[in-house]
Amino acid sequence: MTEKTAELKKQFEEKIAQVKTTADLEQLKINFLGKKGQITALMQGLKDVANEKKREAGQAINTVKQYIETSLEQKKEDLAKLEWDLKIQATPSYDESLCLHKEQGSFHPITLVQREVEKVFETMGFHIENYDEIVDDYHCFEALNIPKHHPARDMQDTYYLSTGQLLKTHTSAAQNYLMRKYGAPLRAIFPGRCFRNESIDACHENTFFQMEGIMIDENISISNLIYFMKTMLSEVFGQEVEVRLRPGFFPFVEPGFELDIKCLICGGKGCPSCKDSGWLELCPCGMIHPKVLEYGGIDTEKYTGFAFGLGLTRLAMMKYGVKDIRTFNSGNLKAFSQFKNM
Ligand code: DAH
Repeated sequence: MTEKTAELKKQFEEKIAQVKTTADLEQLKINFLGKKGQITALMQGLKDVANEKKREAGQAINTVKQYIETSLEQKKEDLAKLEWDLKIQATPSYDESLCLHKEQGSFHPITLVQREVEKVFETMGFHIENYDEIVDDYHCFEALNIPKHHPARDMQDTYYLSTGQLLKTHTSAAQNYLMRKYGAPLRAIFPGRCFRNESIDACHENTFFQMEGIMIDENISISNLIYFMKTMLSEVFGQEVEVRLRPGFFPFVEPGFELDIKCLICGGKGCPSCKDSGWLELCPCGMIHPKVLEYGGIDTEKYTGFAFGLGLTRLAMMKYGVKDIRTFNSGNLKAFSQFKNM
């Protein structure tokens, strides 16, 4: 019996060496370990072995059986690895240059204008800040000298949330936060999305972008405000612009202004774009109200400052000649792709 088991082991080794696929291996397993396989046949032959040799013969068969089992397991793993490698080799490799989508992405025109404005102000020592879109009443109104029931609140139809918070109606909502965070002196700009409950048409949107700026330092005056605005706008429009200030009322600035630029299309002569006035209204601004500085923890004996709220959406319309404000939120890729190289 021991010779028979040794012979079987030899046979098995020859056969397993020839196995190339998992299907072959399965067959080999059946041939040796199956119900009608060779190991079972050997086991059945035990009954003819002399009693005193049965134990030894049984052990020999078991040893070969275990050997066959582990060899089959090992071979299975080797084959799986081999088959995987072959599959990988057969898969065409990734081609980075392959262009699946002809449509190439482009930046949103408002992003483009925002970046330009940011670049100019950064070179003038302003840092760029981010602020939340969901704010509280205090930051959006109270801290800006717009107390409850103040008529100025009628200017902004606000989206209130069930939490009592609101969607910020203007970027001015970050003024107090930044004054508290950095103190004076301070130069910061903070772009952001604003929301107002407006009926939408070619000139009105309920979601639009502004860029707020504040500068607080000793001896800041209206001349500083005019200089910074003129420099920034000349850079953004790529030509010298003329600006003028008209009085404007906002509770958080005193005095407050509307800043106009001389019409870039007619040079001030009057045309349909400027409604024959020669000027385009661009940006409300003013000297920060002492109360607002106080709410921000700024020493009003020592510091003054200016603030402006540039309509980024409006600026993008003017810069790129976009006639309908709804274009910006339309998701119309055809329209946006025209701004690719600007
Ligand atoms: N927050 C104002 C608005 O959206 C705009 C504004 C006016 C901002 C005057 C300012 C400012 O910083 O000084 O209507």
